Amino acid sequence: MKRIAIFASGSGSNAENIIKYFAGNEGVEVSLILSNHPDAFVLERAKKHQIETVVFSAKELKYGRNVLETLKQYNVSIVILAGFLLKIPGYLIQHFPNAIINIHPALLPKYGGKGMYGMNVHRSVVENQETESGITIHYVNENYDEGAIIFQASCAIASKDSPELVQAKVQELEALHFPKVIESTIQ
Ligand code: GAR
Repeated sequence: MKRIAIFASGSGSNAENIIKYFAGNEGVEVSLILSNHPDAFVLERAKKHQIETVVFSAKELKYGRNVLETLKQYNVSIVILAGFLLKIPGYLIQHFPNAIINIHPALLPKYGGKGMYGMNVHRSVVENQETESGITIHYVNENYDEGAIIFQASCAIASKDSPELVQAKVQELEALHFPKVIESTIQ
C-alpha cells in the first residue's frame, strides 16, 4: 500500500479531488492532510472524508522534526503539495527523494518563484497579456518551483479574460490531470 500525505494551506479543492480519485483504490491511500493554517478549509474537507489531519506552524516545519516524525508514523511514501505555500525544508526533501510533488498554476518556468501563488499568478498572466497559461506538476527541490517537471497542460487565454476566468480555466486543468499524474508516478 502506497500512502499519500497532502500538504495544503487553503481551500483544498485539489486535495479533495485527490482524495476522491483514490477512494476505493486498494493500492493507494490518502492517509493524512497537513496544513499550516488551523482555519484552512482543506481541514473541513478532510474531516468530511474521514481523513486524519495535522496542523503545524511555519517554525515547526522549518526547525522542528515533528512533521517528519508524523509522516514516518503514518508510513507515508509520497508527499503532495496542493496549494501549500511554505517552502519545504531540506531535511524533508532528503527524506523523500523524488517523492514530493507540487502543482503550480502556470507554465513554469514562467510565473514561478517566491510570492507567485494563487491569484498573484493569474493577475500577472493577465497583466502581461499572455495568450496561454496552464499547470505544471513537478518534483520539489530546495528552490521554489524549480524541481524537474513531470507534466504540463495549457489553456488559451483571450485578451478579455479576467484573472478569475484564468483561475477557473487552470482549476479545470488541475482537476482533470493532477490525480492521474500522481497515479502515474506511483506505478
Ligand atoms: C491551486 O491553483 C494550486 O495550483 C495553487 O494554489 C491553488 C490551491 O487551490 N498553488 C500554488 O500557487 C503554489 N505556488 P486549492 O486549495 O483549492 O487546491
